[in-house]
Amino acid sequence: MTARIIDGKAFAATVRAKVATHVAHLKETQGIIPGLAVVLVGEDPASQVYVRNKGKQTVEVGMNSYEHKLPADTSEAELLALIERLNTDPAVHGILVQLPLPDHLDSDLVINAIDPAKDVDGFHISNVGLLGTGQKSMVPCTPLGCLMMLRDQLGSLSGLNAVVVGRSNIVGKPMAQLLLRDSCTVTIAHSRTKDIEEVCRRADILVAAVGRPEMIKGSWVKPGATVIDVGINRVAAPDKGAGKTRLVGDVEFATASEVAGAITPVPGGVGPMTIACLLANTVTAACRANG
Ligand code: GUN
Repeated sequence: MTARIIDGKAFAATVRAKVATHVAHLKETQGIIPGLAVVLVGEDPASQVYVRNKGKQTVEVGMNSYEHKLPADTSEAELLALIERLNTDPAVHGILVQLPLPDHLDSDLVINAIDPAKDVDGFHISNVGLLGTGQKSMVPCTPLGCLMMLRDQLGSLSGLNAVVVGRSNIVGKPMAQLLLRDSCTVTIAHSRTKDIEEVCRRADILVAAVGRPEMIKGSWVKPGATVIDVGINRVAAPDKGAGKTRLVGDVEFATASEVAGAITPVPGGVGPMTIACLLANTVTAACRANG
């Protein structure tokens, strides 16, 4: 069997097109231009790339982008003062603080200082609690993108066995909550899980979010399963030449795609959906702020 390849790039383009239409409508009917503020502390190269892409795509869908680049030695008080200003700025509907923050800053404290209504990452403790209790909340972008792809592939997810490999606050835990909300039977597997291969083989839906290159092999996948690979790992690629690298997921694509019913590639799978969902969350926040 050869799996259907889930084209996240194309899917993300359709989400962005819908967001752009919504933004144009808001502008026309209410004179509102949704605004997204992104805060980057320090010079982490990967974070700089993400932030640049977010800003570019925000502008492309017709929204306002506000970038705040702060030096690595920014104090907690300075960062909190900026967040407070953004919280009270009516032109800013969404606030994202790029993670990871430098070690001297307390991420939990900083994230929880964001107005939950503007927390387009869905990381504020209020949004985490609302999601966990099935109430209306801001939903973290990467798991939201995964859920959209799963619904698109499978229709109803009700009653399916879903296994989420990885228990991070950013992906694993909210992903499990979303799958539970869609009436899946959900298992979270992690580094201490016994017989993890066997656990994975029971999954109709397998979501990999561990950050370990190609950990999940084809032999771990139930025939016909839908596999969502959240991992983005840069590894050496000596076959491409000395010092060359390539991106791989947490799933060994070559073997898993022989067994799965559908699978996301890396790159071009989950990745593009994350920013598309961030834009969608920003429009949602702007709509909620304006009744
Ligand atoms: N760093 C890596 N992924 C994310 C994300 O989804 N949101 C934020 N704020 N930082 C990240």
